[in-house]
Amino acid sequence: MKKVKIGIIGFGTVGRGFAEILVNKKSYLEEKYGFSYKVVAIADLVWGSIHNPDGIDLKKALQLVDNGQKIEELGETGWDSLKIVHESEADVIAEVTPTNLQTGEPGITHIREALKSRKHVITTNKGPIALAYDELKAIADDMKVQLRFEGTVLAGTPALNLALGPLAGVHFEEVRGIVNGTTNFILSNMETGKSYEEALKEAQRLGYAEAKPDADVEGWDAVAKAVILANLLFDGHLKPSDVERVGITGLTVEDIEKAKKEGKRWKLIAKVWREDGVVKAKVTPEMVGPDDFLFHVTGVTNALTFKTDHLGEVTIVGPGAGRIQTGHALLADLIEVSKHI
Ligand code: HSE
Repeated sequence: MKKVKIGIIGFGTVGRGFAEILVNKKSYLEEKYGFSYKVVAIADLVWGSIHNPDGIDLKKALQLVDNGQKIEELGETGWDSLKIVHESEADVIAEVTPTNLQTGEPGITHIREALKSRKHVITTNKGPIALAYDELKAIADDMKVQLRFEGTVLAGTPALNLALGPLAGVHFEEVRGIVNGTTNFILSNMETGKSYEEALKEAQRLGYAEAKPDADVEGWDAVAKAVILANLLFDGHLKPSDVERVGITGLTVEDIEKAKKEGKRWKLIAKVWREDGVVKAKVTPEMVGPDDFLFHVTGVTNALTFKTDHLGEVTIVGPGAGRIQTGHALLADLIEVSKHI
């Protein structure tokens, strides 16, 4: 049976969600997709970096981290993320370090070096795809390896694969939707009387929020997703600073109540469109009524409507965050990559 060797760079919420899925789906992947896997390396600044050519015991690694312990007993130490991408036998690198939207690092370097080392890359890291997609895709094409990043937009809900796959051939006129789970969760919870702080804490506990909540509540995470959509679907060549951005921190309990009285809701809405031939994007809170589909999208659920020439509006709705929901995107990408190994 085909054996896929995986290196995981980053063993935080998403990396561990992916590991849990791998453990649970091992025999399913073998039976249904005809490949088995082994994780030959894990690098994490907190939990330790190890290499084990026989395959790391993932169940044990998850248990150790759950108990607050390092994973170093499960492999050979002395390996860091760059040594893993350069020297390990991994066929595919899962890059799941925290998103940095200023520099894209360390994700950009990990991905660039992995691709240059002829390794496929799967990632949920928004920074590298928002800031350096053209460069990274050119390297992937050059080296004839896959660069897949489904989980950067709408977590495991296959918005990007839909747009780039089945919707290939359409002309995108506009994309509009809710692309951040944390803020939608907070806004929905505030409507039920919870305070902003309580709702944010719950979102963090459930693993929805970014490491720094500012990225969600100030709209930066949604900006990254809008940039990815603008660049991938509209050839926009946008940077995060090109996107008009207003987060949800300016919304008060009174604003929420006022909307409720009018039968409306506040939503943080991302939109990408063309104006006089120029690609534009914005992320702003909007008060919407029941006649707007997004009114009905609550909690951590996200939705994106693609306005196209041939099909009119096509909408995809599903979870926008969460460890397993985001880990699933890596599984979907891994299954695709396995066809190229
Ligand atoms: N923090 C992000 C969100 C995670 O809440 O949507 C998924 O990108």
